[in-house]
Amino acid sequence: MQRTQAMTSVQPDWETFHKMGTSQKIPYFSKDNRLYDCLFAQQLNRELLEHLFRTADTLRSVTRTKDGADHVSSLLSDKRAMLYFAQPSTRTFMSFLNAAHVLGIKTSEIRDTSTSSEVKGETPEDTVRTFSSYVDMIIMRHPAPGFVEKTAWLMNRTGRPVPIVSGGSGKDQHPTQALLDTYTLYRSFNGEVDNKHIVMVGDLKRGRTVRSLSYLMKNYRNVSLSFVSPKEFRMEADILDFLRRHNIPFTETEDFAGVMKTADAIYMTRIQDEHDKSGESKGVDYSPFYFRKEHLDIIKKTCVIMHPLPRRHEIEVTVDEDPRAVFWRQERNGMWARAALMAYIFGVDGKIA
Ligand code: NCD
Repeated sequence: MQRTQAMTSVQPDWETFHKMGTSQKIPYFSKDNRLYDCLFAQQLNRELLEHLFRTADTLRSVTRTKDGADHVSSLLSDKRAMLYFAQPSTRTFMSFLNAAHVLGIKTSEIRDTSTSSEVKGETPEDTVRTFSSYVDMIIMRHPAPGFVEKTAWLMNRTGRPVPIVSGGSGKDQHPTQALLDTYTLYRSFNGEVDNKHIVMVGDLKRGRTVRSLSYLMKNYRNVSLSFVSPKEFRMEADILDFLRRHNIPFTETEDFAGVMKTADAIYMTRIQDEHDKSGESKGVDYSPFYFRKEHLDIIKKTCVIMHPLPRRHEIEVTVDEDPRAVFWRQERNGMWARAALMAYIFGVDGKIA
């Protein structure tokens, strides 16, 4: 395979590389002008998104019959993937696991790094490189910011690189969640994500899903965003700068009821208190940022209510019965979108129809 750009020039060390801008890093994580490692939402442009959405739609319909499902599960039956999830996860883990199985990929998993040689003093980087010897892809969730990216960077310098797909990296990014969220918007609005007003609610400072989704919105025309959060957990400045640079209008407010009336999509999130260093979440009144049953009367008839899940109290359970609550469908969309992405990375996406 022909490594795109970066591999041919002198390689920067990790510290230098890590400080580079995302757009400069992207070629390093591509091969033959195709995405190879999936680490940042900024790697997903509109053309690729729409290709993946169409692929996901085709996967769903083809696998409805046994013949179709057997065909799809033969496409990557020669491949093995490792799921390295060093952070709590059930839905994202299961979503990737089942997406891999749809394509016939065999899977192995590490979910508790305390059972690995890391306890003997091995660096996590060496541990991951060891595991990579046995597989053709690594799907990784890690609490440390930059760790997934560093793994991909390291693997690309070895004689046997394997693609790294992020299943969530620290507080920074969750690109496949943004992929499935946008796929959910695409399906909810008959393929039309342009011209939408999207309201993101909750702990926007530490939620990686809202960060990645904000990045993806640059692919759509005339989208506007509203960020609704307690003042302690406002969206970070790097995302707001990104939106300004890409002329994506946004507002920040604590008035949830006011802004929800014009929303086409309301994206709810929970408080991310696992990132507390000194009890920052204690004493924050989160209740103004709950979606309650009575709100169903004031939102548009076409508005969709989304949530990456898990939920705590931020969406009242009775809301689930309303057809505008799409978060359970959103999870299922995730499995298909991730299968489409894996098929694309392994280059079998053209064989699905
Ligand atoms: C999210 C995550 O892990 O960032 N969950 C998920 O992947 N579906 C959101 C969250 O944990 O709040």
